[in-house]
Amino acid sequence: MDLSSTIRSRRSVRAFRNDPVPEALLRELVELANWAPSAGNLQARDFIVVRDASTRQRLAGAADQTELAQAPVVIVACTNASRISKYGQRGRDLFTIQDAAAATENLLLAAHDRGLGAVWMGSFGEEEVRRILGMPPHARPVCLVALGWPAEAPPIPERLPLGQILHLEHW
Ligand SMILES: Cc1cc2nc3c(=O)[nH]c(=O)nc-3n(C[C@H](O)[C@H](O)[C@H](O)COP(=O)(O)O)c2cc1C
Repeated sequence: MDLSSTIRSRRSVRAFRNDPVPEALLRELVELANWAPSAGNLQARDFIVVRDASTRQRLAGAADQTELAQAPVVIVACTNASRISKYGQRGRDLFTIQDAAAATENLLLAAHDRGLGAVWMGSFGEEEVRRILGMPPHARPVCLVALGWPAEAPPIPERLPLGQILHLEHW
């Protein structure tokens, strides 16, 4: 697929087959995720790959989203503020999240390109997720990506017309 087709055809997938995802592929996805831009190239983001069924079950509870238990893999994209050595509060509070978010989009596109399905989940109890995964204070979970071989082909959701979102020169 060319890049435009990959971008346009990616969908949030929320139903997965039970087949395992090879670890080499998971490593490749995280490596590609980290090729996303980051503030000052400080790469203030980390990724937790969760395959253990009972941990996924607990994450599903923390998010109240059963897909996290059903997917064979959950990848948690986190900030890592210990790598932000400049940019002050804006760096710690905003750039770390942008670093993790940019990487997540790379991850979703790379997963789609490999035939995997995934969904970005932002709705979860942050403290509970932090506790379940034993995260240190300088790391914040930004999103939980449920990932696996797709068991559905979701319909194409609408996008707003360009005229509604594009502001040329000023708002
Ligand atoms: C910041 C953010 C938070 C999201 N949170 C959730 C979520 O908690 N649960 C969920 O099922 N989907 C979640 N999604 C996925 C969106 O629902 C989905 O991207 C949107 O409906 C567009 O569909 P598409 O990804 O197939 O284009 C989230 C997406 C983003 C970017």
